[in-house]
Amino acid sequence: MKRQLAETAKDLAAYIRSLDEDLTEPPPAGAATTAPVLSRAGKSAPAAAPVPPAASLASPAPLMPAKINASMDELAEQVKACRNCGLGSARLNAVFGVGNRKAKVVFVGEGPGFQEDHKGEPFVGRSGQLLDKILETVLGLKRSDVYIANIVKCHPMKNPADPESHGNDRPPTPDEIAACRPYLDEQLRAIKPACIVTLGSVPTKVLLNTDKGISLMRGRAYDYPVEIVPGRPVKLIPTYHPAALLRNPNLKRDTWEDMKMLKAFLETGKI
Ligand code: URA
Repeated sequence: MKRQLAETAKDLAAYIRSLDEDLTEPPPAGAATTAPVLSRAGKSAPAAAPVPPAASLASPAPLMPAKINASMDELAEQVKACRNCGLGSARLNAVFGVGNRKAKVVFVGEGPGFQEDHKGEPFVGRSGQLLDKILETVLGLKRSDVYIANIVKCHPMKNPADPESHGNDRPPTPDEIAACRPYLDEQLRAIKPACIVTLGSVPTKVLLNTDKGISLMRGRAYDYPVEIVPGRPVKLIPTYHPAALLRNPNLKRDTWEDMKMLKAFLETGKI
């Protein structure tokens, strides 16, 4: 028992140390990048959208799976061409998702930021580097072992007329979330994960249809309220967004505990 406690403390200390190592900022816009597309979808950017009140993201409508009926590749093409909301006209790249399309676990963030818009891949900025470290140190996984996606597939900007500026991120509005939701539903139906991890309040509110914030929701697992495989509930584990850990290192321990819960579930099938 004592030995087990000592090993846990050692693991936790190693995890905290690893997360504390410097995270480098990815190259700025204009530097060499692997961005698949670097042209704006529309010439004139729409006006800045209002920032939604945080508590209004739970859907009042029943959560139903989308009926898009497309393969992941077809779906990615649909997302690239999507103009279902104003975000599609201001983005550089749609950020569809990345990783193993047969993953047991899907991580869901809020929406792409500046770096993700430039690269066309989710979680490639400082938050993404931290997520990679958490995956590696606690779960022994690489980003290519899991699937990573967002609630909205295009970068929500405070001022879409100035897409090259930093600090231009904002949370997606309820309308943008509703317009994008069928894509995530369909991704989940194609992947059929055993577990979803929501990163932060926005994806947790949206996927669990709740108005409660992440600090109240994390620390336990839920059944995802949408049926993906008949008769097999998908577990949902909410945890803090990596950006919250960058702002408040005291949250690292809670995240470690959430990821240990995920690890145990992936190893035993029990939660
Ligand atoms: N934050 C998110 O929620 N998603 C990303 O892809 C990047 C940062």
